[in-house]
Amino acid sequence: MKLTDSAIPSPCYICEEARLERNLLLMQDVQQRSGVKIILALKGFAMWATFPLIRQYLQGCTASSVWEARLAREAFGGEVHAYAPAYKPEDIEQLRGLVNHISFNSLNQWRRYRGQIESAAISPGLRINPEHQEAEVALYDPAAPGSRLGIRRAQLVEGDLEGIEGFHIHNLCESGPDALERTMAAFEANFADWIPRMKWINFGGGHLMTRAGYDVEHLIRILRGFRERYDIEVILEPGSAVAWRTGPLLCEVVDVVNNQLDIAILDISATAHMPDVLEMPYRPAIRDAAEPGVKAHTYRLGGNSCLAGDVIGDYSFDHPLQAGDRLLFEDMIHYTMVKSTFFNGVQHPAIGILRKDGRFELIRVFDYPDFRARLG
Ligand SMILES: Cc1ncc(COP(=O)(O)O)c(C=O)c1O
Repeated sequence: MKLTDSAIPSPCYICEEARLERNLLLMQDVQQRSGVKIILALKGFAMWATFPLIRQYLQGCTASSVWEARLAREAFGGEVHAYAPAYKPEDIEQLRGLVNHISFNSLNQWRRYRGQIESAAISPGLRINPEHQEAEVALYDPAAPGSRLGIRRAQLVEGDLEGIEGFHIHNLCESGPDALERTMAAFEANFADWIPRMKWINFGGGHLMTRAGYDVEHLIRILRGFRERYDIEVILEPGSAVAWRTGPLLCEVVDVVNNQLDIAILDISATAHMPDVLEMPYRPAIRDAAEPGVKAHTYRLGGNSCLAGDVIGDYSFDHPLQAGDRLLFEDMIHYTMVKSTFFNGVQHPAIGILRKDGRFELIRVFDYPDFRARLG
């Protein structure tokens, strides 16, 4: 079915199963040839209707919270790992029945919960700060000066590691293998004496191995090299790479206005339904559209909320836009559904899957009771 077909409700996040499986096949190959374990970071992609497919390739999930851990246990199965900057006692009570691994962000937290973790036979780890920066955008840089994420080498002494089975390092963001290599070198330089005492090392997410041009062979060489040096389990927990380029956000033009330039108002909102466009910020691609001025008709595209800055960008099209025209914003599956909000009560995009055989399956529509229930 064509993704702009009127049988699909607008707006709608449409996950294309064939593209998702292509990413998963690449990850399976990386796992088989490097010997590492790859688990899905639910923070980036948690569309659980796809879990039956994903669990054929990945062995579990990593959770940022009790709710994500519960979803992983209920809907995915396999291994459930957890990390959060800080846990309350009631979080640990619930996580005890849900997770296999847990990484703590501070020694305070580890000491506070050690007894409960050990009695539940959960493998404990510490998130460490590799003291090496790679992320280009400060918002996504866990190793930035003053970061609250991870323990620095100088904050650890020998006795602190008693009972600890793993180190967790998350330092990358949409990065290539060279960034992992540099992070690994910094980590090894700082922690070399302690690495052999661990059962596992988790190199976090941010490995964008499914991006065109990513040097997968280099990644495999780096991972193999690390495993040969230390002979311990290595885990990666990407989110973006799993759902990278696996489908668009379908939307519709609702009106066209003019204020020194033509402006199309859409039935979605950047801030509510594609927040990274404003947060990162970046300009998403639109299928069959071009940079402003390249095609005959240029428009600024804006969302249907009150926020003045709810603007996605300027684009040009072959035809003039009019109410009812359908547009496809590319690559709107990772970090979209998970971050979307009901701001302004703008109709929330439905969720659908384009199956491998070309059938469209509507998974979920949102209606007024969903909006209302979040507010009281
Ligand atoms: C601890 C941790 N693990 C994994 C991820 C997933 O990263 P990505 O989706 O960039 O692969 C993140 C992202 O912020 C993270 O903070």
